[in-house]
Amino acid sequence: MTSTVDDAPSQAPEDGHPSGDERFALVDKHLKRVRYEQDQLIETLHVAQDVFGYLSEDVLMYVARALLLPPSMVYGVATFYQLFTFEAPGDHACTVCTGTACFVKGADGIVRTVGDAYAVAAGATSDDGRLTLKTARCLGSCGLAPVVVLDGTVHGHLDAAEAVALVRAAVDGGGES
Ligand code: FES
Repeated sequence: MTSTVDDAPSQAPEDGHPSGDERFALVDKHLKRVRYEQDQLIETLHVAQDVFGYLSEDVLMYVARALLLPPSMVYGVATFYQLFTFEAPGDHACTVCTGTACFVKGADGIVRTVGDAYAVAAGATSDDGRLTLKTARCLGSCGLAPVVVLDGTVHGHLDAAEAVALVRAAVDGGGES
């Protein structure tokens, strides 16, 4: 009749994170390294986003608890920075810089054309999950304006048609019918 620790449900993997999701173990590792310092919040959010691909509500709560910070504060900090994303990303990511130099050189047209081609609004992921379209303020490469970052590769001096062709090559590449 006594209840011991051994009686507790033991569904956790033998050598894994109690949640069963090993990605949290990677976040824990970082948290330990920075000694759970509250001023490491932004760095921790970066690590969590790198690990999970985006910051879900669960992950934000997890970070808040680990750093003993109010969830509202963690959410506030995360939403303040454009670098953080709160939705699962698509298979491919296209970020169009809409800073002044890029805007002047037609960035808006690129956003519109790519968005139309994949029926996705800026800041969202297409329904089929293949493409996430984002905009960013100056990416620091104004000499290349307008700048598009596709799956981590920087492309410059693109017009809308060239941008769509690039995106199509990445998203539909190999899928010619
Ligand atoms: S405005 Fe686009 S890179 Fe600077």
